[in-house]
Amino acid sequence: MPVTIRTLKKRKQDGEKFSMLTAYDATFARLISEAGVDAVLIGDSLGNVIQGRDSTVPVTLENMVYHTECVARGNQGSLVLADVPFLGAATLDRILEASGALMQAGANMVKLEGGAWLAEAVTVLKRNGVPACVHLGLTPQAVNAFGGYRVQGKDEQGARELLDAAVALERAGAAMLLLECVPRALSAEITAAVNIPVTGIGAAPECDGQVLVMHDMLGLNASPARFVKDFMAEAGGDVATAFRAYDRAVKDGQFPAEQHCF
Ligand code: KIV
Repeated sequence: MPVTIRTLKKRKQDGEKFSMLTAYDATFARLISEAGVDAVLIGDSLGNVIQGRDSTVPVTLENMVYHTECVARGNQGSLVLADVPFLGAATLDRILEASGALMQAGANMVKLEGGAWLAEAVTVLKRNGVPACVHLGLTPQAVNAFGGYRVQGKDEQGARELLDAAVALERAGAAMLLLECVPRALSAEITAAVNIPVTGIGAAPECDGQVLVMHDMLGLNASPARFVKDFMAEAGGDVATAFRAYDRAVKDGQFPAEQHCF
């Protein structure tokens, strides 16, 4: 049975975790989905891990569409999410154009980086049959505005803004939220405050699901972030074993551990 947004909502209701990994091509998408990972994200992190850039800012809609088509061909039933790239969410027209292209390339859901200001767009997308995941907290496309890759929501005002945004976006019709580099206690609070699934990365084991960049969890990043675990280290060099170990660790609540949180 293919994984749908209904599957992930039911997992949340039943208190069961879900797993997600990034993929950018057909072969890894097939291996990830065959390993039982529930969702595959064509992240604009492809700017870093595929294109060798130092941020996701240069990634284009054309790049995203190409890699989404590749992943969709290899996928074996996982939910497919694709990132709307830099400035793709600047206006409603641009969001609709980017989301249309990504859905027609094979995505089941689009992911937008931003905040409460995306509420109107999320409502319009939902009305037009496009489920949206909103990425909150450290949104890498805004690295230049943040002045670096920094944990978000650490002070009272920042925490309140993130919590309010999550509630407003659920009300607007968001299908999912993704929290990146948000303190553990706040991530847990946000996850409990909404009924839609919340995916974490550098967030909390209390989130409904977890995501990692595939290259990071395969131990291919020379300077991994604190929230990364190398699942290849114990997989005897076998990629499929590493994907299965990640899926199991997320579903058993073994990953992330305290040392992966802020
Ligand atoms: O682009 C990406 O891979 C992402 C994940 C880090 C969540 O947005």
